[in-house]
Amino acid sequence: MTNHKIIVAIDGHSSCGKSTIAKAVAARFGYIFIDSGAMYRAVTLFALRHQLIADGEVNREKLISMLPQIKIEFRYNPEIQKSDTYLNGENVENEIRQLPVSQNVSPVATIAEVREAMVRLQQEMGKNKGIVMDGRDIGTVVFPDAELKLFVTATPEIRAQRRYDELTAKGETVSFPEILENVVERDRIDSTREVSPLRKADDALILDNSNLTREVQLSWVIAKVEERLNGISLNDR
Ligand code: DC
Repeated sequence: MTNHKIIVAIDGHSSCGKSTIAKAVAARFGYIFIDSGAMYRAVTLFALRHQLIADGEVNREKLISMLPQIKIEFRYNPEIQKSDTYLNGENVENEIRQLPVSQNVSPVATIAEVREAMVRLQQEMGKNKGIVMDGRDIGTVVFPDAELKLFVTATPEIRAQRRYDELTAKGETVSFPEILENVVERDRIDSTREVSPLRKADDALILDNSNLTREVQLSWVIAKVEERLNGISLNDR
């Protein structure tokens, strides 16, 4: 086994289990897991709290001018064995997953200056490697030299079904056609936006998990990480 560490970049469509895979891989190798979507969500929460979003319209100028006032960190919470997202020292992990943020994050994530600030932070977090980061532009923009890049996907119907099962398990009453429509719409926004659209990096491996169990996926990804680590130690000889 080698002491070298690598960067694992996991991009892909929404609701296809990227962060579940990323967390499991990070835990297996003792790497840091970073959910880059949480950072765009934290900026959105800041904007909402400062009344910089009205009817889906973001006050871009004002938000850009306030970017230096936004401090985002991840702090490990040993009780739940995962990291929580902090915005200016406050734990906002729950709030950033709620509807007001989910409904407004897409336009915030299209602002070039917001992306530049987030990408700088993400690159800083990865400077010592040993990191698994999931998002939309990790393999293409944030870490174009990542040793392992994955592009995760599944059919819209299967992703909508997973989302539907998750929400109904929480006791929410939801309509499958609406969820499917939302999945398709999010794909459209993520893939067609001008700044850093979601696309597969040329050297990314595709992981279509439409018909794969979690266990099968995880062993496949772990084998790929080990291949990369072994490749590095062989090159050192
Ligand atoms: O993965 P998620 O749903 O938590 O992402 C929230 C939003 O942020 C979503 O609109 C996509 C966007 N995002 C992005 O533009 N770039 C990333 N690296 C991660 C997320």
